[in-house]
Amino acid sequence: MDVEAHKRAAAARAVEFVRPGMRLGLGTGSTASHFIDFLAERVRAGLDIVAVPTSEATRAHAARVGIALTTLDDIPELDLTIDGADEIAPDLTLIKGGGGALLREKVVAAASARMVVIADETKWVATLGRFPLPIEIAPFGATAIHRAVEAASAEAGAPGPAVLRKAQNGHPFVTDGGHWLLDAHCRHIANPRELAARLCTVPGVMEHGLFIGIAQTAIVAGPDGVRVVERP
Ligand code: A5P
Repeated sequence: MDVEAHKRAAAARAVEFVRPGMRLGLGTGSTASHFIDFLAERVRAGLDIVAVPTSEATRAHAARVGIALTTLDDIPELDLTIDGADEIAPDLTLIKGGGGALLREKVVAAASARMVVIADETKWVATLGRFPLPIEIAPFGATAIHRAVEAASAEAGAPGPAVLRKAQNGHPFVTDGGHWLLDAHCRHIANPRELAARLCTVPGVMEHGLFIGIAQTAIVAGPDGVRVVERP
């Protein structure tokens, strides 16, 4: 089985967590996209749910496959969010935002009674940081914010260059919220809480991709099958 098959296997298992009448958060990325397709099959078979998408891409996909959509303004409390991740540590702290949707992903997950993260096993790591940490920033004063972010990560014991993410046209990548992204190459984040706390003090940082204490359950699929891990 390849990585894509493992993503599909994790997504298929996650559908078993969905119950009739649930209000769902729908994640963003390739693994979440598989979940949306599996969920749509259940909806076509009569499952009654309503969902809040975490990105415009997910909104378009879910609408296309016939999933009823709403907003957090209409339904501010959700039952369950299913989303992917770029890295998952054993305590279910996550790095998210590789697809650029981290702000909406965090808002939606935080509004949910439960978040289940789905991934292939390459995302399971002993320590976070090999995947560059996405940090969403205001375009205004981006150079100053950039410097302050690098200083904050060094002070948190996770030094490394932060790189402005570019779109294919060479211009800064723009998030659904109209912001830019820095990808912080920390390599080894020994203390995610410390890093998160310091990043939050930088004016112009809209959100960062560290999800701490948010995911309760991880569904991780690999060559040996699918395992379900609860937060310790
Ligand atoms: C989107 O912004 C991300 O948080 C994704 O959930 C993450 O990048 C995982 O994406 P894949 O499922 O495509 O690997």
